[in-house]
Amino acid sequence: MNVIVVGGGIAGLTAALRADALGHRVTLLVKDVIGDSCTACAQGGVAGAYGPGDSPALHALDTLQAGDGHGDALAITALVDGAAGAIDELIAAGVAFDRSADGLLARGLEAAHSRPRIAHAGGDATGAAISAALARRVRASSVEVREGVFVADLLVDSGRVRGIRSLDGVETHADGVILATGGSGQLYAHTTNPPGITGDGIALALRAGAAVADLEFVQFHPTVLGDGAPFLVSEAVRGAGAVLRDAGGHRFMLEEHPDAELAPRDVVARAVARRAAAQSAPVVLDATALGAEILAERFPTIDAELRRRGIEWSRQPVPVTPAAHYLMGGVVTDVDGRTTLPGLWAVGETARTGVHGANRLASNSLLEGAVFGARAAESLTHHSLPYEYVPLATPAGDPNSYGSEKRVVVGNGGQDGCVFERTALQRLMWEHVGLMRTEEGLRDAVARLHAWSPPPATSRTAQEDANLLTVARAVASASLARTRSLGAHFVVSPALIGAA
Ligand code: SIN
Repeated sequence: MNVIVVGGGIAGLTAALRADALGHRVTLLVKDVIGDSCTACAQGGVAGAYGPGDSPALHALDTLQAGDGHGDALAITALVDGAAGAIDELIAAGVAFDRSADGLLARGLEAAHSRPRIAHAGGDATGAAISAALARRVRASSVEVREGVFVADLLVDSGRVRGIRSLDGVETHADGVILATGGSGQLYAHTTNPPGITGDGIALALRAGAAVADLEFVQFHPTVLGDGAPFLVSEAVRGAGAVLRDAGGHRFMLEEHPDAELAPRDVVARAVARRAAAQSAPVVLDATALGAEILAERFPTIDAELRRRGIEWSRQPVPVTPAAHYLMGGVVTDVDGRTTLPGLWAVGETARTGVHGANRLASNSLLEGAVFGARAAESLTHHSLPYEYVPLATPAGDPNSYGSEKRVVVGNGGQDGCVFERTALQRLMWEHVGLMRTEEGLRDAVARLHAWSPPPATSRTAQEDANLLTVARAVASASLARTRSLGAHFVVSPALIGAA
């Protein structure tokens, strides 16, 4: 089969390598260069039941609980059962995971995991190690790599995806297209995602008519250094013993949740935001008890960056703030990455497999990319869903409005004649479709987003802007449709926004 993979993070590279190994003719298209993705920035690691005292069943339970019960049991089972095989494949690809003295995989602890089960490489440089190893493999394989190609549209003919059209108008035909472009962190004014993460795959799928779901569930990472360019301070640092303190030095998470700093990510992020708003200053992450040696050895990337910014974190606490980090929803797929559009697959953060529910468990994302990237490649010869897709009912009861652009404009839609500007969209999403949402704010956001016209997609930036607008409308509409809080989707009354 001729197969196009779009995107060069762990999910896309894994899918391309596996499809190549299965004898397919694979073309890998990336907007920038291979490895320019969220994967390369990932610090935590790859979750999995790799050691004694742990099991896939426990990992599945933690995944379901962190997702506020909204996850899909079948998909979660595929994820956790696939962990051992995925880590073996990564080791075979040349990723040197850190080992403990007994030679077993060193396993870190992160929030909402009942066991230490995060395999890491280079301390906190796991994503960079994976990205480099897989990129080397791909370049040594028969996969045709085309860098600097921005996919503008999917070619759909007789209800089936037949290839892609790039921004320069060139059409490339294929029997199957796998979308692996990551999420959409650039929807927000503050994000841990690199600048190229503009929701491209989700926008492509929406324009082609594939179903999307769970777009209201956006994860905000609680501990991001907000001073200058946002820089992630891994949850693994809290797993190793660092604590959060308010301006008075008080460890406030103890009152927020029995697991304190290791509560599910959405709980910690909201608590951090509330405390910062109440004291009009950022809260701090205090890692001083860990000592300079452990900090430098276990977290060399963070250590170097903090020093570069003049923060000596073995002696002083680090000011942190939440930032948009991960999209739990995306293009609806089955457990083999098949979307509702024959000939189209989606993997990694682009996909909504159902594994993350309403809030992703830490370090399940690299695992998802590895497991479902391979599964999608394995399923390429079966291009249609093996069952009829029934759209998920929306909380508002109208399946057609779920994440689609068909939703009617509400509020002052169309009247403010806004000229589209990316920074305005990012601010709007941050303020109204962010960590804490109100019905009024969501209505306003939906109206304003629909009042903006997408810029003519004549350049890379304009195409990215159009994609961001498409995805922003879908995220805001899905958020408005879900009137009750669940996981990362948190709706409060306006009066409570500072105190909720
Ligand atoms: C982190 O290292 O805190 C991020 C890991 C993740 O997003 O799962």
